[in-house]
Amino acid sequence: MKGAARAAELRRILERANHAYYVLDKPEMSDGEYDRLFRELQELEAQHPELRTPDSPTHRIGAEPAEGFQRHRHLVPMLSLANAFNEAELVEWEERNARLVPEVKQAGYSLEVKIDGAAVSLTYEDGVFVIGATRGNGVEGEAITGNLRTVLDLPLRLRGKHWPRKMEVRGEVYLSKSRFEKLNQEREAAEEPPFANPRNAAAGALRQLDPKITRRRGLRIFCFHIEAPGQKLPVDTQHELLAQLAEWGFPVEPHYAVAPDLARAQAEVAKLEQLLPNLDYGADGVVVKVDALRLHAELGTVSNREPRWAVARKFAPEVQVTKLLDIKINVGRTGALNPYAVLEPVEIGGVTVSTATLHNFDLIKAKDIRVNDMVEVTRAGEVIPQILGPVLKKGVRRHKPYEPPERCPVCHSRVEHPPDEVMFYCPNVSCPGRIFESIVHFTAIMDIRGLGYERVRALLDAKLIDDVADLYELTPLQLMRLEGFAEKSAQQIVDAIQVSKEQPLSTLLYALGIRHVGAQGAKQLARHFGTMRALAQASADEINQARGIGPAIADAVAGFFAEPKNRKLIERLEKLGLSMHEPAAAEARGPLAGQTYVITGTLPSLSRARAAEVIEAAGGHVTDSVSKNTTALVAGADAGSKLDRAKALGVPVIDEAELLRRARATP
Ligand code: IVH
Repeated sequence: MKGAARAAELRRILERANHAYYVLDKPEMSDGEYDRLFRELQELEAQHPELRTPDSPTHRIGAEPAEGFQRHRHLVPMLSLANAFNEAELVEWEERNARLVPEVKQAGYSLEVKIDGAAVSLTYEDGVFVIGATRGNGVEGEAITGNLRTVLDLPLRLRGKHWPRKMEVRGEVYLSKSRFEKLNQEREAAEEPPFANPRNAAAGALRQLDPKITRRRGLRIFCFHIEAPGQKLPVDTQHELLAQLAEWGFPVEPHYAVAPDLARAQAEVAKLEQLLPNLDYGADGVVVKVDALRLHAELGTVSNREPRWAVARKFAPEVQVTKLLDIKINVGRTGALNPYAVLEPVEIGGVTVSTATLHNFDLIKAKDIRVNDMVEVTRAGEVIPQILGPVLKKGVRRHKPYEPPERCPVCHSRVEHPPDEVMFYCPNVSCPGRIFESIVHFTAIMDIRGLGYERVRALLDAKLIDDVADLYELTPLQLMRLEGFAEKSAQQIVDAIQVSKEQPLSTLLYALGIRHVGAQGAKQLARHFGTMRALAQASADEINQARGIGPAIADAVAGFFAEPKNRKLIERLEKLGLSMHEPAAAEARGPLAGQTYVITGTLPSLSRARAAEVIEAAGGHVTDSVSKNTTALVAGADAGSKLDRAKALGVPVIDEAELLRRARATP
């Protein structure tokens, strides 16, 4: 077969497989088979760049970073929605509409989950996705096409037929709650600030200049609307439109309903309301739409801002009052004491809540929360329940104010409270609380799937493990005797543990949780020393010589290996067959090969971690301290001593835009 025909065939097969996997949830080929075909297409396109098309699945892995986004004017403005906060407001909405177009009362309604993500507009021409844009001010947004191509379930080419030749499909890009939690776990492990909520994480990902970063977030989309001025749609109602969108290959939120009149629409709304908290994506209401599309034009919009034919039924975040039974403390990997509330179980938004975070001791004091109080609890912004405050009744005697503990609740060491921090710490490195968190950190970084908090806890409680080395001696049979491990999952976990032995030295070093050693530092150490043995034998001074390693890391690493307990652990891990070396990095390639950058201050669009990824993806190195070997300092706002040092040493200082220019340049 000729290259062009084969490329077209591969595109079709791969897009079909992608749709089956992400949209239909019915995979039709193995990951290995997908990868093989994907690589074949990539190679074809590399040899024959003229075969690249805008709908090629190879765009899904992310194009080169952009310097900024072009503006995109929407064909038809992107509107927002009016809200209705109760049943009466919904009735008023219908009455207002009926005064303009009396038929609305008989036209029926469609009811849809209102997805809480980032609004986007997708332009399709002849069935091919050509431009994607943010909402912006409604009239003009930013073209983020490259980023949207990485959205896992967004169709790059439409299926079926009869789509308008040119249309803008409107949808909401979101991050699933489970993906959000996983990302935040990873960020915590990498000592990066967590995302506040899935919506911010999704919106932030869409505006990344580097599509590869967007891709890693694992975004999804639901579509619900079409603008195709002057063209006829093959459907007459909103609910048929949703079915049609699905047929063309768009992901459509599956819980939509129809009702013949408003009374029955209200009943459907109530049903959907129950469902919302249990979905794996954020939903901030139900959208009620006049079902007959021909009435949409008749009803029109309110000052070009909101359509009259749709309204968002919003629900006040549910607040429940329950008793605060106890304030307990979880000891983190670094020894930080994290207080949380133990509550008399209470149902909030269809989920039983029995614990809530209390963040830190200052907050308990500020809200004056005391054990035995009745407290208001909410799941605002879903996910983690929060305590709003106590509900005080006159004449009810309260416990005395809560005092932070003087001793660690797990190992009883005297706690430390650095004067400039809100957190309190347990200083004992062998504290069982810290050990638990360190093992969870280890399993997360070594990518041992299926071993999260609960199962690690179960393994510790059953005394099957005391440290991370014990993980490698677990058998499926031992796991199956525990609650929560079925035969299949027991085998899968043991397999995942075994596979993790192959992780390179850099990953293992990071997973061990040595103080100050993050992903970056671990990589530098592994590159410099090559093997665990070489690193373990090095003095603090020698470690300090490694590129990008400062004295704090050097001391911490040398201190770690000086501890006999740690040496024993490493020896055991080696005997158990863990890889203790770093595979030689392929000769770095890319425009920044052989260059070293330091990043400081707040950059306009990239976080420092992301900027580091951009540099590494282009073959460059990132280190923490400026030296005469530094190629350039990338400085953002509020740069401090590093900027002074760079100036003193005559190291060039560049901004984010210049960095992105360099990273994109052809070597
Ligand atoms: S219809 C003209 N339906 O909510 C189209 N919007 O607060 C008006 N949204 O900008 C929007 N789910 O981004 C519609 N099923 C849904 C929706 C939905 C989420 C978003 C949309 C809109 C925002 C308004």
